[in-house]
Amino acid sequence: MALAALVAAANASPVSTTLKARQDISAPYLNSEAQAKGKLWFGTAVDTTSAEVDNSDYMTIFNDTNIFGQTTPGNTMKWMYTEPEQNVFTFAEGEETIALAEATGKKVRCHNLVWSEELPSWVTDGSWTNETLLAAMKTHITREIEYYGEGCYSWDVVNEALDSNGSFTENVFLEHIGEAYVPLAFQYAYEAVESFCGDIKLFYNDYSIEYAGDKHTAAVALVQTIQNWDGAQIDGVGFESHFSTSFAPTQAEIEAAMADFTALGVDVQITELDVPCTSVPCSADALATQAQVYYDVVAACMATDDCTGMTVWDFDDEYSWIQPAEYDGEGDGDLFYSNLTRHPAYTAVSEAIEGSDCSVC
Ligand SMILES: *[C@@H]1O[C@H](CO)[C@@H](O)[C@H](O)[C@H]1NC(C)=O
Ligand SMILES: *[C@@H]1O[C@H](CO)[C@@H](O)[C@H](O)[C@H]1NC(C)=O
Ligand SMILES: *[C@@H]1O[C@H](CO)[C@@H](O)[C@H](O)[C@H]1NC(C)=O
Ligand SMILES: *[C@@H]1O[C@H](CO)[C@@H](O)[C@H](O)[C@H]1NC(C)=O
Repeated sequence: MALAALVAAANASPVSTTLKARQDISAPYLNSEAQAKGKLWFGTAVDTTSAEVDNSDYMTIFNDTNIFGQTTPGNTMKWMYTEPEQNVFTFAEGEETIALAEATGKKVRCHNLVWSEELPSWVTDGSWTNETLLAAMKTHITREIEYYGEGCYSWDVVNEALDSNGSFTENVFLEHIGEAYVPLAFQYAYEAVESFCGDIKLFYNDYSIEYAGDKHTAAVALVQTIQNWDGAQIDGVGFESHFSTSFAPTQAEIEAAMADFTALGVDVQITELDVPCTSVPCSADALATQAQVYYDVVAACMATDDCTGMTVWDFDDEYSWIQPAEYDGEGDGDLFYSNLTRHPAYTAVSEAIEGSDCSVC
């Protein structure tokens, strides 16, 4: 009876979208639009270990191939989840992501093979030599690539190897192997792909490389190092694009940064886009700024032939990794509010894909 009354009230009211809001799968369709313009996809991260996959309203939107044509597992393919003990592999969670992607018409950017973080303690606390750590790294890379096979469109082979000043980030690999761990990881990855004749793209993925600066320069040099390394191959570079309403490069800056990589013959992709407001709820001004940042990033990719896909780092504020309590009040950086209605930025993304002016910026 209460529900009937609510439905009646909703139907009578001009804001009658309230009740269907949690399943807003109406046009515009970001993935359909991006594909129609020649991109591989508009996609989103997902985390099968999070409560989001038990939320059927979230899943109704996630599942819709018109909206999302690609996914990236937020955590489940990282080293601590896939090889918690040396030579003990646990691939089930990652498999779940691939099955979900296949059932809902999505490609998977597999993520990631070698990174400073989310490592099991046997890696971080092991007593290694160069040779023993290289062997462990090679085994990890080879087993993951071979296990998931062409369930992966691509792999982020190395993630975030550089500090913001362009130096190599301190980690166990740098300590024992030296800077060569990066091209060696790409060599092992390429060997694994070749050994089973797969077609899997190999990516370097990082943040603060999306605009000119020391880190961008170092990342361009790192791609060249990989390209010049005997037996290694790199196909693309992921621009994470974790920006905010208080900091983001312009469209022109992003396009120029993309051009520095595509000139080397590699693709680029937007891989982890989100734009939190500095405080929540976002003010009207902040929502317009947020829409502008989303617009600029997507427009830069649309203007770059070799920018092949765009991915947001999840789409629902409720499940975003940037929550106000942990990030100094920042939040609400995704395309959908917690109630799964859309931010103005959703419209801005569609307009950027279509090449029209931003009506909400
Ligand atoms: C959903 O949440 C946003 C942000 O809090 C709010 O502005 C909007 O009115 C809500 N929409 C509905 C239909 O509840
Ligand atoms: C989403 O798709 C998965 C895989 O087909 C399915 O198991 C699940 O029930 C779907 N959820 C919703 C809400 O559509
Ligand atoms: C770069 O930053 C890192 C981390 O803050 C620091 O350890 C390193 O010394 C810096 N390198 C240079 C060349 O300034
Ligand atoms: C570790 O071994 C690799 C492969 O032989 C080599 O390229 C690298 O320079 C070595 N690192 C150090 C610190 O000696």
